[in-house]
Amino acid sequence: MTSKLPGETKTYDGTLADFDATFKALDIDYLDLYLVHAPWPWSQIGTNHDKENVDVWRAMQEIYKSGRVKAIGVSNFNVHDLQNVMQDAEIAPMVDQIQYYVGFTEPKIADFAKQNNILVEAYSPLATGGLLNNEDVAAMAKKYGVSVAQLALRFCIQNGLLPLPKATSAAHIEANKELDFTIQDEDMDKLNNMPDTAPSHFHNATQG
Ligand SMILES: NC(=O)c1ccc[n+]([C@@H]2O[C@H](COP(=O)([O-])OP(=O)(O)OC[C@H]3O[C@@H](n4cnc5c(N)ncnc54)[C@H](OP(=O)(O)O)[C@@H]3O)[C@@H](O)[C@H]2O)c1
Repeated sequence: MTSKLPGETKTYDGTLADFDATFKALDIDYLDLYLVHAPWPWSQIGTNHDKENVDVWRAMQEIYKSGRVKAIGVSNFNVHDLQNVMQDAEIAPMVDQIQYYVGFTEPKIADFAKQNNILVEAYSPLATGGLLNNEDVAAMAKKYGVSVAQLALRFCIQNGLLPLPKATSAAHIEANKELDFTIQDEDMDKLNNMPDTAPSHFHNATQG
């Protein structure tokens, strides 16, 4: 199970208190993953909170050391945000959860994360449904005998990411587990070089 520290919480004490409240409310023995939801409060997207994020990360390390979470990480952090918290950290973020789908792959963050052993989780890997009608992806999916969604999820896995699809339909949930096929290298190249497959979709201001 994953839970997140609200982007609005930017103090050491606030982080410990929010985690305690979540842990009590869930009534569990441990969490798999606890993430800092964003480098900025959601009402101030894109603003700089470097100093506060260092304080928050100090608290995240304490939470990890308490044994109540198996992993700690961040979300919506760009390379600068990651470097900022890693500078004096005893424990680096283990995960960065970012928006990522065919044609919107945030390469600077993904490359930096790979070099630093940070697992990238791809949120909205289907662009919240926005890429499902893309004709180029659909044509390639047909070639493999899979759905557009399955191809888009497999694309994330072959790029070394963990996709986080959301589905309310039981058939979609089942289909999203059937990813045991391989996209050929030349098709991965095509997918990796495609323009945004859901250009009208909301894009988070993470890249940088
Ligand atoms: N960290 C962050 O700041 C952040 C921000 C946004 C999202 N997220 C997380 O990312 C996860 C997913 O994001 P998301 O909801 O934006 O979108 P998504 O997974 O990209 O897309 C969800 C849409 O795709 C459809 N779908 C799923 N599987 C399908 C399939 N096999 N075939 C056809 N359609 C399929 C769903 O339909 P049905 O519902 O009808 O099945 C739904 O309409 C969520 O769990 C969310 O918590 C994190």
